Amino acid sequence: MAKFTFNLTPRDVPPVSTDHRIIATKIPVPESLSLLEEIKLYESSNALEQLPVVWDRALNHQIFDEWGNAWIDFTSSIFVTNAGHANEETISRINECIAKPLMHSYYYPTRIRAQFLKKLLEMTPNYLEKAIVLSVGTEAAERAVKIARIFGENAMQGKNIIVGGDGNYHGKTLGAQMVGGQHGDKSWIGYTDPNMKHMPFPFPWVLEEFEGDGRELFQHHLGMLEADGVDLSNIAAFFVESFQGWGAVFYPVDYIMAMREWSRSNDTLLVFDEIQAGFGRTGKMFAYEHYGVEADLVICGKGISGSMPLSAVLGSATLIELDAGYTSTHGGNPVACAAGLGNLEAFENRDLIVESQRKGKIMRDIIYSWKEKYPSRIGRILGNGLLYGVFITKENSDELDSELTNYICERAMEKGVFSICTGRGTIKIGPPLTIPDDALIEGLKVYEECFDELF
Ligand SMILES: Cc1ncc(COP(=O)(O)O)c(C=O)c1O
Repeated sequence: MAKFTFNLTPRDVPPVSTDHRIIATKIPVPESLSLLEEIKLYESSNALEQLPVVWDRALNHQIFDEWGNAWIDFTSSIFVTNAGHANEETISRINECIAKPLMHSYYYPTRIRAQFLKKLLEMTPNYLEKAIVLSVGTEAAERAVKIARIFGENAMQGKNIIVGGDGNYHGKTLGAQMVGGQHGDKSWIGYTDPNMKHMPFPFPWVLEEFEGDGRELFQHHLGMLEADGVDLSNIAAFFVESFQGWGAVFYPVDYIMAMREWSRSNDTLLVFDEIQAGFGRTGKMFAYEHYGVEADLVICGKGISGSMPLSAVLGSATLIELDAGYTSTHGGNPVACAAGLGNLEAFENRDLIVESQRKGKIMRDIIYSWKEKYPSRIGRILGNGLLYGVFITKENSDELDSELTNYICERAMEKGVFSICTGRGTIKIGPPLTIPDDALIEGLKVYEECFDELF
């Protein structure tokens, strides 16, 4: 199928003016087109794959352009601004740091890094004792791969296999991509690492067809690895994306429980990638907590700072100490740590995990009502907390309709709602956890208008 591109011809659209949304111009804004052209001149063309809105400012749950328009943000800037765009606590901590001024410190110790790490480890499960602080998600995924490798080397007999999940995503750098399961994107690597293996993802529809429960499906997948020549006693670590992003697809709980039990009895690490899933998004600090298990390593990014580039690997002191080559020039940058500290303070001050659960229920009820209203077009609804994936299908079919979904996102943009375009036939809804209730409800109603117009 040809690649979808959003319409760049300015169109007259009905004006919108509410407390949360303003659409006062043609969309896309005619004056924004020259800027989009300029971006195309200087960046690769995929810089323009997203909705053609030029962001000027963003505050709490709203995105503003230079031309008087305002959108409700249902992306949280791809799960970064969980505590709201530019919240007071974060701005105040960043301002303090800049006012000193302290803009960079390599890995030389700073008070702000210590304060941030203390707060981070206080707010996360007790068995996560130490952290490596880095800059972006993929860098943290790389570090987790490194720790898993060292852990494997140190094991009694030496273990060298890391097992990821088909379709899972851990970032775009080499190691993160190799352990990731988006195999179609790996041709540039030119070879496969014989020590990186993958298990199928136990999608709900796979479990429904399988004769057995999640535990048995896990055993079945282990059997597939064995049949593929993997010596199971050689597995150093499982890498798990806590849910698959495109559709908010969680693992079956008993599948992960079985994986945890197996990995405990076989001296294998269980690593959760919480870069997108973490920091209250699903109604818990970390999404893997829904599985009722403990993690050996947790990879964090995005919502850890809610703004500046900051990421981390969390684990027991023993595991974190395995990585002696600790440095990263920008990892733990003082301004980023200040943002991280302010962000965690905002979580505490506004009780954001509880808010995610409370607003999640509001969102869930509305989204589930869509299934009744549009049964021929809305397939599965998956998610938790303030994250849902709504599967848009071809009429009376299970086949996802990615083109129609892109049109829905485009239409929602024309009405003042800014959506995540997954390109996979799902609408993924993830507003900041600080969104006012009425803005949440108003934004969801906009999708209903789009459904009425486009289905
Ligand atoms: C689950 C997951 N892992 C890793 C990454 C990579 O993070 P970054 O883009 O900060 O490198 C992402 C980013 O979307 C992600 O969603």
